[in-house]
Amino acid sequence: MLARTLLALATLAGAFGLPPPTIAYSGDGQFIIQKVDFNRNKTIAGLVSPAYLPGAKSTSAAPKPAKSAIPAVDAVQDATPAVTLTPAWDYGGSKKVRGVNIGGWLVAEPWITPSLFDNTGDNRVIDEWTFGQYVSDAKSRLQKHWDTWITENDFSQIAAAGLNHVRIPIGYWAFDTSAGEPYVKGSQYSYLKKAIGWASKHNIKVMVDLHGLPGSQNGFDNSGRKGSITWPNDSNNSARAKKILTTMAKDFATAQYNNTVTIIQAANEPFMVGGPSNMQSYTKQFFRDAYGTIRYDAVQGAQSNIVVGLHDGFEGLSYWSGFMPSPQYQQVLMDQHIYTVFSPQEVSQSKSSRFKQICSHRNDIKNNQGNLWTVIGEWTVAPTDCAKYLNGRGVGARYDGSYPGSSYVGDCSTKTGDGSNFSSSYKAFLAQMFATQISVYETGSGWIMWTWKTEQAADWDYQRGLAGGWIPKKLDNPSNVQC
Ligand SMILES: *[C@@H]1O[C@H](CO)[C@@H](O)[C@H](O)[C@H]1NC(C)=O
Ligand SMILES: *[C@@H]1O[C@H](CO)[C@@H](O)[C@H](O)[C@H]1NC(C)=O
Ligand SMILES: *[C@@H]1O[C@H](CO)[C@@H](O)[C@H](O)[C@H]1NC(C)=O
Ligand SMILES: *[C@@H]1O[C@H](CO)[C@@H](O)[C@H](O)[C@H]1NC(C)=O
Ligand SMILES: *[C@@H]1O[C@H](CO)[C@@H](O)[C@H](O)[C@H]1NC(C)=O
Repeated sequence: MLARTLLALATLAGAFGLPPPTIAYSGDGQFIIQKVDFNRNKTIAGLVSPAYLPGAKSTSAAPKPAKSAIPAVDAVQDATPAVTLTPAWDYGGSKKVRGVNIGGWLVAEPWITPSLFDNTGDNRVIDEWTFGQYVSDAKSRLQKHWDTWITENDFSQIAAAGLNHVRIPIGYWAFDTSAGEPYVKGSQYSYLKKAIGWASKHNIKVMVDLHGLPGSQNGFDNSGRKGSITWPNDSNNSARAKKILTTMAKDFATAQYNNTVTIIQAANEPFMVGGPSNMQSYTKQFFRDAYGTIRYDAVQGAQSNIVVGLHDGFEGLSYWSGFMPSPQYQQVLMDQHIYTVFSPQEVSQSKSSRFKQICSHRNDIKNNQGNLWTVIGEWTVAPTDCAKYLNGRGVGARYDGSYPGSSYVGDCSTKTGDGSNFSSSYKAFLAQMFATQISVYETGSGWIMWTWKTEQAADWDYQRGLAGGWIPKKLDNPSNVQC
């Protein structure tokens, strides 16, 4: 709405022969509209960045003229948006998001498809960056992977399992390798669109997730490049990411897609609790920019109703209290990921302590749901980090002490793999993990489990969970909730 307001102010000023307003950027999302019509300065907090605002690149530039007559309004009184946006899914409603991630597909991960990495015969290949760097026929190998790992049949099974959402990760390099990165820039985006078509056919909504950002936003292999976080080191990184969001927002706001793509998530797991010192401010500003892009740049002359997806950056939900408040901001969704397996303490904890940890999120999610819609967009029933390569290709597990600095808790061979070694008591525990988590996460907008399928990590695998019976086909009123 701010952009439209500024256009309106410009129009009004023009009509009365007044100088156009100037907009000063005072840092971290604060804008001051100066010397507007009645000689009042307005401070508008927490809105989009100057780079997004029309004509606001310098403090003296005038906004572009309005395309159509927009009623003149006061910037502050007009905080309430003039249009009511209705997304194709009501994230504040009683119907809950129940979904799976389409993990390890358009962003390959060593632990989801170990064979794709092992078959290169080169143990330097640990992520998509090194895949492109060291594998001479990387493009054809990845092409085959995209073509076979997920097909329409998966979407028909997902729908049959009673699920209504998928979250599909894609990396920035599917769109842009202009800085000379070795990534394979292939037909990932065409596959994404194809998958959206399958989703539409099977009545499943799609959360599109920008999973890897230029510079790496977390240093995880699943950001495309394992190593250090350099995302906030260069202003070009957010500019490049924004351009990709614009491309997707424009495409997915069209009638062909907009009943299916309901959310575009600006960034997966930016590691805001670490990284360079400007990591938090840079990422928050990027989120504000992403809001402007997804909401205003998608449709000429109107606001798109695609929900703007954020991620809590591992800060916890309460950190975001007051961020992007309504009604200035509309249709913003916070994604939080909950795992209980990535520290020695967590893999060695008792069942009751693990359930206590999970159940403790209930109030937090409930509280945040009143601030921003909240989805738990990644979680697992796995109680260990045993899955092969889960901690990185060639890296061991904390649970069996093969991870550097960890000590033995138990044997991994009965905890992961294809599931044929799972005891009935372990399966019963996994069933409790499932039921308890969906119950807690439905306190918010709902949940999207990580992940639909794996080559050999049944403990992480929705498809195998259904077959093995620890994931139920009926998702209403879960029994077995351990809170
Ligand atoms: C508005 O802001 C400008 C620049 O910060 C300042 O010079 C001016 O005095 C302010 N006007 C009012 C009415 O506060
Ligand atoms: C940003 O990207 C543009 C175009 O790729 C390039 O010309 C410019 O030098 C880059 N800026 C920085 C700071 O890297
Ligand atoms: C989809 O886009 C069309 C215009 O292309 C618009 O009329 C319609 O309201 C949008 N619907 C949804 C559910 O986003
Ligand atoms: C990124 O920026 C931080 C400071 O903000 C600096 O410490 C670090 O060395 C930089 N990294 C690179 C790769 O330039
Ligand atoms: C089952 O467990 C045995 C040892 O306990 C192990 O050798 C075997 O690889 C496991 N099978 C699978 C499929 O994980």
